[in-house]
Amino acid sequence: MCGIVAYIGPREAYPVILKGLKRLEYRGYDSSGVALLNGDLRVYKKKGKVNELEESLIGKDVHAHAGIGHTRWATHGEPSDRNAHPHQSANGKLAMIHNGIIENYAQLKTELQKKGYVFKSDTDTEVLLNFIEDIHENNQCGLEEAVRIALKRVVGAYVIVLLDAANPDTIIAARKGSPLVIGVGKGEHFLASDASPIIEYTKEVVYVNDYELAILKADELVLKNLGNEKITPFVQKLDLELAAIEKGGYDHFMLKEIFEQPDTIFDCLRGRLDVSNATITMAGVQNNIEHLKLANRIIMVACGTSWHAGLIAEYVFEELCRIPVEVEYASEFRYRNPVIHKGDVIFAISQSGETADTIVAIERAKEQGAFIFGVVNVVGSSIARISNAGAYTHAGPEIGVASTKAFTAQLVVLTMIALKIAKEKNTISEERYVHLLNELHEAPEKVKEILLLNDKIQELAEKYKDAKDALYLGRGYNFPVALEGALKLKEISYIHAEGYAAAEMKHGPIALVDENLPVVFVATKDSYHEKIISNIQEIKARKGKVVAVISEGDETIPQLSEDIMVVPQADELVAPMLSVIPLQLFAYHIGVAKGYDVDKPRNLAKSVTVE
Ligand code: G6P
Repeated sequence: MCGIVAYIGPREAYPVILKGLKRLEYRGYDSSGVALLNGDLRVYKKKGKVNELEESLIGKDVHAHAGIGHTRWATHGEPSDRNAHPHQSANGKLAMIHNGIIENYAQLKTELQKKGYVFKSDTDTEVLLNFIEDIHENNQCGLEEAVRIALKRVVGAYVIVLLDAANPDTIIAARKGSPLVIGVGKGEHFLASDASPIIEYTKEVVYVNDYELAILKADELVLKNLGNEKITPFVQKLDLELAAIEKGGYDHFMLKEIFEQPDTIFDCLRGRLDVSNATITMAGVQNNIEHLKLANRIIMVACGTSWHAGLIAEYVFEELCRIPVEVEYASEFRYRNPVIHKGDVIFAISQSGETADTIVAIERAKEQGAFIFGVVNVVGSSIARISNAGAYTHAGPEIGVASTKAFTAQLVVLTMIALKIAKEKNTISEERYVHLLNELHEAPEKVKEILLLNDKIQELAEKYKDAKDALYLGRGYNFPVALEGALKLKEISYIHAEGYAAAEMKHGPIALVDENLPVVFVATKDSYHEKIISNIQEIKARKGKVVAVISEGDETIPQLSEDIMVVPQADELVAPMLSVIPLQLFAYHIGVAKGYDVDKPRNLAKSVTVE
């Protein structure tokens, strides 16, 4: 949440920062701003998306070789020009951008107000900035030292980046709990929340760790800890191409990412699944197999769509591995006092690897002796680094705020892990094991077939786009798919949608059913099939409009449904990675038909780095 970019070097800073902000806009888009340093410090900011900032700067002096930029997802203070970043310190000499939350800002603010500070915004960021300025002026120490002293008092999460009018050749940045990547160029440095604004210029990057300070000049990078000791920067080469973060001819990233799924699932399986030898190779699982197979209990910890992947994994792991599984919202898990034993294995599922609640949840569990296994998409992210072991989902950068390809990749990885553990534990027959390997192997081709439904689903979207509410129902493996389908619709089209276990709907949601309510059934052929047909009958009897995702060859449900979306047959354990795809397309096309910006739905952000 919130995107930050900074540049120092021989290029014009503004175009680099502006382009970077556009790439990071998925992290927040309620306001944006830049601070540029060329003799004097100029700060420009604007409520709204980055292109509104860009328009407002036409004709303005944006010449500079050092600058910082920010795109905001509001926490403290409503979206407005005033609350947009960068903020300027009271004496006007410092400018700062911030991603995160300063929890003790109220206390710091009172202290500063007593000293006569007056605040121009409602943000916690301005408080921290003036706190730094105050230390800088009164302790007569350098800015770097002032930042260090200030951060020792700060409670919360942050990435901060500062420009100092008195030191135009230096940018200072620090991190705790929010992501920060430095791009190392020839005689220039870049800084951003993720690598996407950087890869166009350099593939050499340094991931800054918590409690580290970066002091950047055009030709020098110094990393220090809060104790002022130097740290040798670990420069890594990024394995990321520019094309992966561009739209490539699609109208939206979301559609591109939905259409990438045959490839992302294939990439996820590649080098791991070997059908001819009936093996799965996953070093993270193999090297820790004792922990995994002897687990007394598995706890899946995640948020949002990743939490839905965890729910599906619960069914998969319990069936295949015979290990009890619990699935927890990271935000709940971290604040209650969960009972954790040494033999517990925590699966942290996260696309970004930076979700604040998931990070803290696993840190707490790790302290109590649990073994943490990360299922993460972004290589080198915080969750990947905190975990004891893990497996990447290899879905490539996901930029659309509503998660699609990362979800199916999570399902693939989690299923492979379960299969591998089950094989080791002997809780799966050879026949079923081989069958499921084949089913996974065939998934990319089946997804390709489902994507051919795109035009038909676009027509359905026109038909249902004016619905006020929608109900999504499923059973067994498809119950979490119903939750995910409802979430996608809510996120993208702002239609109120509820996901429910199909049998449970009799205990409440059935009261909502009338001739106006679309009820989307995820009803592919599985062991619950007869049961879900009864549930469809119950809805039909109350005149609900049934839209069903069904398997090829189903002759019963089409007769009960207003509309159907047909997917290839698959084992029920693999079915969710197929049945979710029509629902992703359905939500996408409804959002587009309603004229919404589906890549940047209101109030949401891709990576939730605040709690
Ligand atoms: C945000 C995103 C969701 C995502 C969730 C968890 O809410 O908009 O798409 O599922 O965060 O994110 P993670 O990166 O941990 O999977």
